[in-house]
Amino acid sequence: PWSEARATAIIAEHVHLEGATLPILHALRENFGYVDEGAVPLIADALNVSRAEIHGCITFYHDFRRAPGGRHHVKLCRAEACQAMGSDALHAEILAGWGIDWHETTADGRVTVDPVYCLGLCANGPGALVDEMPVARLTRDGLQAALTEVSR
Ligand code: FES
Repeated sequence: PWSEARATAIIAEHVHLEGATLPILHALRENFGYVDEGAVPLIADALNVSRAEIHGCITFYHDFRRAPGGRHHVKLCRAEACQAMGSDALHAEILAGWGIDWHETTADGRVTVDPVYCLGLCANGPGALVDEMPVARLTRDGLQAALTEVSR
């Protein structure tokens, strides 16, 4: 199980490496089987970088190790400002509608969904990125419309 003390020790072992973030994430995943949310502030503090940067790295890391994704890539913002606009419930609906979980691809191979942590759309959340297209005030209909748009 997740242990903050063990995570701290693992981070300390790797903190001297250049580009330490990925080796740390690898080591944590090897030890715990996944990278716990609780590790994010620990890594950020140890490397003296922002939590958003670590989140970005985790997202990228997932992208990196995933099997070939769908034809379109949807990123849904899970950070605080979007949460305040009801993103959690919306994301649950979207994922359930497609019958997938985070980092997964729809059965027809059309869409892969990943979380992101802030897209700079905070004032008009919930925010999303559909391929390279930013979508503000996200709704299920808005998401479908954006997917249609990028499929043209
Ligand atoms: Fe979601 Fe900034 S918090 S876009």
